[in-house]
Amino acid sequence: IRKRLFTTTVQMNIVKKLTVIGGGLMGSGIAQVAAQTGHNVTLVDLSPQILNRAVKQIDLSLTKVAKTLYRDNSVEADQFIYASKDRLKVSTDASKAVEDSDLVIEAIVESIDAKHALFKILDEAAPPKTIFASNTSSLNISEIAAPVKRKDRFGGMHFFSPVPVMKLLEVIRTPDTSEEAHNKMMACGRAMKKVCIACKDTPGFIVNRLLLPYMSEAMKMLERGDATPQDIDLAMKLGAGYPMGPFELADYVGNDISLAVLQTWNRKYPNDPAFQVSGVLKKLVQENKLGCKTGEGFYKYS
Ligand code: CAA
Ligand code: NAD
Repeated sequence: IRKRLFTTTVQMNIVKKLTVIGGGLMGSGIAQVAAQTGHNVTLVDLSPQILNRAVKQIDLSLTKVAKTLYRDNSVEADQFIYASKDRLKVSTDASKAVEDSDLVIEAIVESIDAKHALFKILDEAAPPKTIFASNTSSLNISEIAAPVKRKDRFGGMHFFSPVPVMKLLEVIRTPDTSEEAHNKMMACGRAMKKVCIACKDTPGFIVNRLLLPYMSEAMKMLERGDATPQDIDLAMKLGAGYPMGPFELADYVGNDISLAVLQTWNRKYPNDPAFQVSGVLKKLVQENKLGCKTGEGFYKYS
């Protein structure tokens, strides 16, 4: 059963050629899972150095997945890693990478201007068959699609971190997304062995609409001096059964991502207390204490 959760065959997949743009925490995970489930994938980022880091991250994670799947069989584990890596290419040329893609999943920085600039280029370069999806945490999918002509072939595919472990995929549909494009995104998600749910194009879809206000509330609790991050994390793990406390999770997600999400919503809904941005989060981001990825956030990482 565990093997079925991770692997599939190339022939079964509706989407044969996939391009993932952005090789950070999310993009590297999405590209890895696509490759290990039989998709031919190209991972795009701005520089060879960033792509090298992404490939190293993928190697580490594939080793963990292979260990889980083939605990007692090192030959099969090595074959799994080799076959997955064989399906994965990297590139710094987004236009070229999308030339023959069935699906493009965008996972670049959480900035509407950066996403607009990218999708304008991709819309010119990709053939008509190509479906575009954004992995945004907080931005409106319709707004991201604004400069693109193929609005009927545009949707959201929102994965969760760590992508190789988290089973959920939110598939977001705008009023313009065609039935066919939506069904293909759902089918691709299922081929990547995710449990897919259809979501409306509302702020934070389902998970983040609940998760970010919860994390923000924990930061306000810290600012009031009610409890330490350590005690709040322990409380939510042992008292509420969460796998990570809110501060561990904030560091894991990236404090820049959480800040971008809350600021976007705060600008749109200034009177909603759930979206107020805490000072401690702003300060950490100003100091580049973004969490695990920079070695320090609410906690220090060696
Ligand atoms: N790649 C592959 N496998 C991994 C992995 C990775 N990056 N990280 C962990 N694993 C595997 C481990 O190998 C291990 O496998 P086995 O059980 O076969 O040994 C298993 O997952 C458990 O890992 P660990 O024992 O190392 O650690 P853990 O039990 O503490 O689990 C965790 C780690 C899965 C991250 C867990 O702490 C967890 O679920 N945390 C919450 C994550 C979460 O809430 N994510 C959502 C964030 S919000 C978001 O993503 C949306 C957004 O837009 C911001
Ligand atoms: P990250 O900072 O780890 O990675 C972003 C990557 O995009 C970087 O490697 C950067 O070099 C690259 N990039 C920026 N502009 C680019 C461009 N024009 N072309 C190609 N590459 C470009 O960020 P992340 O945490 O992986 O988040 C990526 C997206 O996924 C964001 O929209 C975020 O909101 C969303 N998301 C994040 C999480 C999370 O837990 N961090 C979860 C779900 C969704």
